[in-house]
Amino acid sequence: MSVTLTSGGVMPLIGLGTFKIKGRELVYKVLDVALAAGYRSIDTASVYRNEEDIGESLKELLPKHGLKRQDIFITSKLGPKDQGCGRCRESCLQSLNKLHCDYLDLYLIHWPGTQGMQPGDTRHRDLRLQSWNDMVTLQKEGKLKAIGVSNFLQHHIEDLIKTAEHTPDVLQIEYHPHLIQKGLVDYCRSKGIHFQAYSSLGTTTDNNTLLTDPVVCKIAKQRGVTPARILLRWAVQQGVGVIPKSTNPDHIRNNIDIFSFTLSDQEMVSLDQLDTQSHLCWNPSQVL
Ligand SMILES: NC(=O)c1ccc[n+]([C@@H]2O[C@H](COP(=O)([O-])OP(=O)(O)OC[C@H]3O[C@@H](n4cnc5c(N)ncnc54)[C@H](OP(=O)(O)O)[C@@H]3O)[C@@H](O)[C@H]2O)c1
Repeated sequence: MSVTLTSGGVMPLIGLGTFKIKGRELVYKVLDVALAAGYRSIDTASVYRNEEDIGESLKELLPKHGLKRQDIFITSKLGPKDQGCGRCRESCLQSLNKLHCDYLDLYLIHWPGTQGMQPGDTRHRDLRLQSWNDMVTLQKEGKLKAIGVSNFLQHHIEDLIKTAEHTPDVLQIEYHPHLIQKGLVDYCRSKGIHFQAYSSLGTTTDNNTLLTDPVVCKIAKQRGVTPARILLRWAVQQGVGVIPKSTNPDHIRNNIDIFSFTLSDQEMVSLDQLDTQSHLCWNPSQVL
């Protein structure tokens, strides 16, 4: 299952998240299992410090799995320390180099702010607009197929659209039954921006409140599937993309099996009612 982005690219609805997956051996092992299981989309970022490991691994793994570069969808992101005219361009070219790619399928501004500044600093807006203009140029040059934003709220996106010539293809943001952002989903839909969720499984933590949520577990038990598949299915059933992260081969294989069943309206409502507006990752609401 995939979506066609405004820029024309086709993006799988499920991809592999790679935050905290580092080290050549581990990255190779995880990507090997993921490609064999059918994943064709990989989400990374310069701040994950694994782009080089991914690039090196894919050089060997694509031929091993009978795949070509154009068969997979690679996303990377501009780090918050590299915002601004010229810096964004340089950082993006470094990501391309590390990933051994001539182009990226999608490049996102990771965060609406710039590292080292207070959230209320008035320079954030200018710097992210400069980054965006660099990305528009890189897209025109063919180095980026699609461009988008991450952790932007509606006012950040509205401001960008007002000023820039190009609407983002994608918004990637935290979204799961404990943090439902329906207004933002509807806004993105109205603008043709694909909405992609991160931390759908409650992120990597010792105290995972999503995978152990009693309602999620009850629906999973009734259906004979894992809680992870319920959480991922809940999102894709709304047309929302997902990028679950795992280093466990069984989990990787299990997580992609979300198109073989449908949650009932009642089950969707029960999951919607779990919203507590709880952020597990960073919260961009204070960033000007
Ligand atoms: N743009 C942003 O600011 C941003 C922020 C956060 C994340 N992201 C992206 O989104 C991706 C996903 O989010 P995330 O890394 O926060 O974590 P996540 O996908 O919500 O959760 C990962 C955790 O779930 C566990 N898990 C995975 N599949 C499971 C299964 N079937 N059963 C039980 N446990 C399972 C993993 O453990 P095992 O490894 O043991 O399976 C890991 O502890 C990231 O990797 C990254 O690519 C982007």
